[in-house]
Amino acid sequence: MTRIIKHLLVALFCFFLFSLGAMSQPSQNLTDCNKEPDAYQSNRNTVLSTLRNRSSLGSYYSNATAGLKPNTVYGMFLCIGNISKTSCSDCVHSATSGIAETCESHDSSFIFSGDCMVRYSDVSFYSLVEASPSTSSYAPINSSDSPKFFNKTLPGKIDELVLKVPSSSSSPIPYFVEDQEHVSQLEGSYDIEAMAQCSPDLDPRNCTVCLELVVQQFSECCSQSRWARILFPKCLLRYNISALQPTITSLGVRKGDFIFGITFIAIMIALLMGL
Ligand SMILES: *[C@@H]1O[C@H](CO)[C@@H](O)[C@H](O)[C@H]1NC(C)=O
Ligand SMILES: *[C@@H]1O[C@H](CO)[C@@H](O)[C@H](O)[C@H]1NC(C)=O
Ligand SMILES: *[C@@H]1O[C@H](CO)[C@@H](O)[C@H](O)[C@H]1NC(C)=O
Ligand SMILES: *[C@@H]1O[C@H](CO)[C@@H](O)[C@H](O)[C@H]1NC(C)=O
Ligand SMILES: *[C@@H]1O[C@H](CO)[C@@H](O)[C@H](O)[C@H]1NC(C)=O
Ligand SMILES: *[C@@H]1O[C@H](CO)[C@@H](O)[C@H](O)[C@H]1NC(C)=O
Ligand SMILES: *[C@@H]1O[C@H](CO)[C@@H](O)[C@H](O)[C@H]1NC(C)=O
Ligand SMILES: *[C@@H]1O[C@H](CO)[C@@H](O)[C@H](O)[C@H]1NC(C)=O
Repeated sequence: MTRIIKHLLVALFCFFLFSLGAMSQPSQNLTDCNKEPDAYQSNRNTVLSTLRNRSSLGSYYSNATAGLKPNTVYGMFLCIGNISKTSCSDCVHSATSGIAETCESHDSSFIFSGDCMVRYSDVSFYSLVEASPSTSSYAPINSSDSPKFFNKTLPGKIDELVLKVPSSSSSPIPYFVEDQEHVSQLEGSYDIEAMAQCSPDLDPRNCTVCLELVVQQFSECCSQSRWARILFPKCLLRYNISALQPTITSLGVRKGDFIFGITFIAIMIALLMGL
């Protein structure tokens, strides 16, 4: 009896493994074999070359389309707004070369590399808000950081920043806002550096929708972190908080030292008067 159950379990387990294998098959099958690969690939190479060339001309964002249906390829790149034009171009050049090598026969591809994002697809994605793929990296929560110290200013700062992005289309880099602030609190002072950005293909309303995804992600992962980078296909957020500096009094002495000094003098006077 138990042997039959054992056999059954083994069979079930094998079936489970087999179905796992079968399930993972389609996701690896990104190649569309019905297409003429040569036409699609040559359109893709045109798109990647166009994007590379536009980044060399100093753009922070560009879109490019090549080919007729069903072999049309849609592509774009976006650089984060606070890097130089040269860094943007370098980033797009290495990302497009990386895509060309690793995704030789794929219908679509997406690269987030440090300072830029490059993608292409056989389906148009312009003006759409997309929730995936997304990534977030952030500093581990440090128990020596007082939580009240961060979450007093950080969420407010981020809300303020995110509110400004959709209407900041007049700057040289559209939909990009950055901010630096020196914050002084009783516990000490620190600097917050933060930036938020939307891809220019979005309309202002969808820029807001995208940033809502970012803020949601922020409150789930990173509101207690010293730094974070959250990236969605059409918008992003980054911030960094410098180390806490102890409060300095106007005499240029640390508050603790000052209080200690006063106490010391008071005790000395008390002792002297007692004598
Ligand atoms: C996956 O690729 C194989 C060839 O490698 C092909 O026979 C199969 O039809 C493909 N499956 C899908 C869902 O495209
Ligand atoms: C990009 O620039 C290179 C060098 O100037 C040129 O050969 C190539 O044709 C350009 N690509 C496209 C798609 O215009
Ligand atoms: C905003 O994004 C949604 C979802 O991706 C899309 O369906 C809609 O067309 C977009 N709106 C505009 C005005 O582009
Ligand atoms: C936590 O913060 C303290 C003081 O800011 C620092 O010395 C320490 O290295 C941090 N630890 C980690 C794991 O980041
Ligand atoms: C700040 O963090 C503490 C500890 O995680 C939490 O209890 C408190 O509700 C947070 N305050 C705000 C305003 O988010
Ligand atoms: C861009 O801004 C982020 C967040 O404010 C900061 O961490 C990063 O160092 C900045 N990059 C450059 C090149 O200034
Ligand atoms: C694509 O780029 C062109 C300029 O090259 C611009 O006029 C157009 O608005 C862009 N389209 C989208 C959807 O971003
Ligand atoms: C945050 O800022 C500090 C000091 O400016 C810098 O050393 C550190 O590399 C930054 N971290 C990130 C993730 O940008």
